[in-house]
Amino acid sequence: MGLIDRYGDRLPIGLETPRLTLGEGSTPLIHAAVVSERTGVDVWLKFEGANPTGSFKDRGMVVAVAKALEAGAAGVVCGSTGNTASSCAAYAARAGIEAVIVHPAGAVASSKLMQARATGARAVAIEGNFSDALREAFDLADREGYVQVNSTNPYRLEGQKTAAFELIEELGAAPDVLLLPYGGGGNTTAYGKGFVEAGVGMPRFHPVQSAERATTFASAIRITAPVHAAEVEAVLARSGGEILTVADEALLEAWRLLARGEGLFCEPASAAGIAALLAGAASPGERAVCIVTGHGLKDPDAVARLDQVAVEALAGAR
Ligand code: F0G
Repeated sequence: MGLIDRYGDRLPIGLETPRLTLGEGSTPLIHAAVVSERTGVDVWLKFEGANPTGSFKDRGMVVAVAKALEAGAAGVVCGSTGNTASSCAAYAARAGIEAVIVHPAGAVASSKLMQARATGARAVAIEGNFSDALREAFDLADREGYVQVNSTNPYRLEGQKTAAFELIEELGAAPDVLLLPYGGGGNTTAYGKGFVEAGVGMPRFHPVQSAERATTFASAIRITAPVHAAEVEAVLARSGGEILTVADEALLEAWRLLARGEGLFCEPASAAGIAALLAGAASPGERAVCIVTGHGLKDPDAVARLDQVAVEALAGAR
């Protein structure tokens, strides 16, 4: 069952809204035995890489594209570091409308671009960073009369808030601590909304950013100016917690531990919450959930670039 069917009564959709779905949501919540053992924290992984296009973006995209379709839009457009683009392309294909994706040239994992191309999106590469891509996407939306489906489209956050509902259903309550990668802050804002609406109390929030925002190897969160910074602050004021910053080296170590220790292969950005836990973000005995935002197959080149041990093992096997 997709999210519109599962949570329709808590989403801004009506009888006229198309029942768009690729089977998104209802992702696994996996206990992290190794990280729990190492930190003394009861650690759980919400594996959003299990969504149809391999990232959490599908939760918001299904609602945004369904609403665009309902409004009679001929197309949708987004600026992206890759995952929003793949998701936008897939749901537009499903809906039978055009998709245009704008991305910083040379700064997106190639698998994400291939995914977007395969599902029929028009890709526009621009010189500049993610903020420049976003600006261009807004201009393009105006020029072509397309709906922009970045997280500034409120339907995106509506869809993404459903992950908080799932966590509460699975754990029977809000966890003590919630950790997730902090790029533009849309997802943090969405979880904040979800927990408030569920009315069960808030976990302590820790959005985790790379210390090297402009240059991090975690290209998904290579974002210098978070669009939702003010909303993130509002969530933190309500939930307690704070933004945590981890060096790329720590992100790398967490990414490896998730893969080798827990058997969960995610893309580098998605290990941010684990990196913060390893640095002491939660106390022993607390229950923490890390949002593992994207699948490892999204960025397979990261293994060749960053995981010397795996590369040597491969060479030895040839
Ligand atoms: N994790 C992954 C795998 C992402 O792709 C993103 C954002 C984030 C975390 C950060 O989430 O921006 O809501 O704080 N990716 C966007 C994109 C920017 O274009 O795919 P956020």
